[in-house]
Amino acid sequence: MFYAQILTLFPEFFTSPLSCSIPKRAIDGGMVSVDCIQIRDFALDKHHKVDDSPYGGGPGMVMKPEPVVAAIREARQRHPDTHVVMLTPSGTHFTQDRALEYVDRGHLTLLCGRYEGFDERICDYVDEQLSLGDYVLSGGEPAAMCVLDAVVRLLPGVLGSPESAVLDSFSEEGILDWPHYTRPEVFEGKRVPGILLSGDHAAIDAWRRVQSGERSMERSGKK
Ligand code: ADE
Repeated sequence: MFYAQILTLFPEFFTSPLSCSIPKRAIDGGMVSVDCIQIRDFALDKHHKVDDSPYGGGPGMVMKPEPVVAAIREARQRHPDTHVVMLTPSGTHFTQDRALEYVDRGHLTLLCGRYEGFDERICDYVDEQLSLGDYVLSGGEPAAMCVLDAVVRLLPGVLGSPESAVLDSFSEEGILDWPHYTRPEVFEGKRVPGILLSGDHAAIDAWRRVQSGERSMERSGKK
C-alpha cells in the first residue's frame, strides 16, 4: 500500500481526479491511500488567516509559516517516515525517475501553496522542493495531482497490463514511446503503417524501436 498525504487549502480540488480511471481503481483496490490535510485548520488566529502581504512590498500574498509548518508537523506525526515535498516553480524538475523513487519510498507528503508562494522559512521544514516545469500554476494542487498520478500508475497491480508501465515513454532514460494505432485501418485517408498489419512480430519490434529512436532524437532537438 502506498500512502500519500496532501497539505492543501483546497482538498476539494482532488475529489474529481481521484474518483475516476486509474487513481480510483488504485484507491478502491487498496493499493493507495490518499489523505488531505487542510492547512487552514492549523491557522492560529480567529479568522484562520493563512496568507499575508510580503515584507518589502510588492503584489500578491505570501503563505504564512505558522499554519503551514504546523500542518507539516501533523503530517510527520501521522507518518514519521514520510517524505515532504513542496510543490513550487523554483524546485527541481519532476521526472519519471523521481516518480519511481517515490514508489520505492512508499510514503509521500505533497505540500501545495497558493498565492505568490511560501514564506521562504518554510523551506527548512520540507525534504525537497519540486517543480512540474518552467511555468507558473495558480497553485501547487495541479502539480501535486500530476505527481500522484505518475506514481500511482507505477504501483504493482494498478495498470491493467503489467507491461504497460514498463513499455512507457521514459521507462528507459530519455527514450520516448513508439506511435500507436488502432482501428480503423484507414482514417480520413491516413493508413496504419502496413508493417503493423503484417503479423511479423520481429519486424514490428524492430520498426517500433526505430520509431522510438527517431522520435526521441527529434523531440530532444538533436535532429
Ligand atoms: N506551483 C505553481 N507553479 C508550479 C509549478 N510549475 N510546479 C510546481 N508547483 C507549482
